[in-house]
Amino acid sequence: MDAIVVRRGETSPTVADLPRPDPGPGEVLVRTLRVGVDGTDHEVIEGNHGGFPEGEDLLVLGHEAVGVVEEADGTPFEEGDVVVPTVRRPPVEGTNEYFERGEPDMAPPEDCRECGIDGAHGFMSEYFTAPAESLVPVPENLAEWGFLVEPVSISEKAIEHAAASRSAFDWDPDAGLVLGNGSLGLLTLAMLDQRGYERTYCLGRRDRPDPTIDVIEELGATYVDSRRTPVTEIPDAHEAMDFVYEATGYARHAFECIEALAPGGVGALLGVPEPWEFEIDGGRLHKEFVMNNKALVGSVNSNVSHFEAAVETLGEFPAWFLDDLVTGVHDLGNYEAAFAQDETTIKTAVQFSQI
Ligand code: NAP
Ligand code: BGC
Ligand code: ZN
Repeated sequence: MDAIVVRRGETSPTVADLPRPDPGPGEVLVRTLRVGVDGTDHEVIEGNHGGFPEGEDLLVLGHEAVGVVEEADGTPFEEGDVVVPTVRRPPVEGTNEYFERGEPDMAPPEDCRECGIDGAHGFMSEYFTAPAESLVPVPENLAEWGFLVEPVSISEKAIEHAAASRSAFDWDPDAGLVLGNGSLGLLTLAMLDQRGYERTYCLGRRDRPDPTIDVIEELGATYVDSRRTPVTEIPDAHEAMDFVYEATGYARHAFECIEALAPGGVGALLGVPEPWEFEIDGGRLHKEFVMNNKALVGSVNSNVSHFEAAVETLGEFPAWFLDDLVTGVHDLGNYEAAFAQDETTIKTAVQFSQI
C-alpha cells in the first residue's frame, strides 16, 4: 500500500510502498479516508520535532486522520464505522500509569510515542491499525470533516484545563484572544465564538487581502496585526483579555500574553517552539501574576474524552467556516499540494479513499 513518509536525512515527504498492516489482538484495521496537515507535520518533516520509530529510517506521517473500519476483529466496532484515532501510544517497552488511567495526554514525552510525530508510524497510508480503545466513532455525515476532530480535541483539552485553573472563583470570560491565525488558531477562535465569548480577537502578522483575516472577520472577531500592535499593548489598543490561547509557537508570546490578560485571566500555551534565549523582566511578570491572580497553563495532546467533545463541537461549526478553513483536499497522487504553504493555504488534507 502507498504511504506518505519522511525518510531519515530528508526534509520533504515522499511516497513509500509498505505492506498493509495486520491488526494484532484488540486492534482494528482502518481504511483511511482523509488525513490533515498541521504546523507540527512541517516541524516533523524539517526534523525539528519528534523522531523515527526505534530502529527505522522512515516515519509514516500524519496524526489527524479519519477512516472507516475495514476489519473490526472482535472489537466493539463494526465494519463500515467511521472512526478517528487518538495520537498517543504507550512506549515500546510497555504501558504505564498514564495509559492505564486513560490520560495518555498527561504523559511526559519519554512515557509515550506519538503516531506520525514521535516514535510511531502515523496514519498517512491507505490502511492503518489502531487499538480499539484509541478509536472514537464519528457520525457518517461528519466523515468528510473528521480529520478536524484531532485538532479540535487539542483545544477542547486546553480550554478545559484553563477553565479548571479558574474554577475556584466565579470566572465568566467575555473577552478571548487567540495568538496565531494558523489552522489551530482559527479552529479555536470558532470554538470561543461557539462558547459564548462576547468579544474575540485573533493575532496574526499578515497584510490584507488574506483568507485567514477574512475568516477571522466573518467569525465576528477583531484581527490584531502583531507588527502594529504587540501583544503587550493589546489591553491599551483593545481591552484586557479573560482568556488568551497561544497558537503561534513564538516563544515571546508565552510571556507577553501575561500582560494581555485581565485580572483573574488565564493563558493557555500550545506552541512548540525551538530553544531561543531572550531577555524578559522576570520580576515585573512575577509580580503581575501574583498581584492580579493570573494563570498560565501549558497543554499538549488530548485524550478520548476530548475527542468525543470535539466530535460534538465539529458538528456545530457553521458550514461556511469549514468550507473556508479547508482550502485543499488533495488526492494521494497530488499529495505534495497538501504540504505546500502559501498565503492562500489555511488547512489541507490528503484524501486516501472515499467513504
Ligand atoms: P501554523 O499553521 O504554523 O500556525 C501558526 C500561525 O502563527 C501562523 O499563521 C503564523 O503566521 C502565526 N504566527 C507565528 N508567529 C507570529 C507572530 N510573531 N505574530 C503573529 N502571528 C504569528 O501551526 P498550527 O498547526 O496552527 O499550530 C500552531 C502551533 O501550535 C504550532 O507551534 C504547533 O506546533 C502547535 N501545536 C501544538 C499542539 C499541542 O498539543 N500543544 C497541537 C497542535 C499544534 P504566518 O503564517 O503569517 O507566518
Ligand atoms: C498534535 C498533538 C501532539 C503535539 C506534540 C500536535 O500537533 O496534534 O497530538 O501531542 O503536536 O507533538
Ligand atoms: Zn497536530
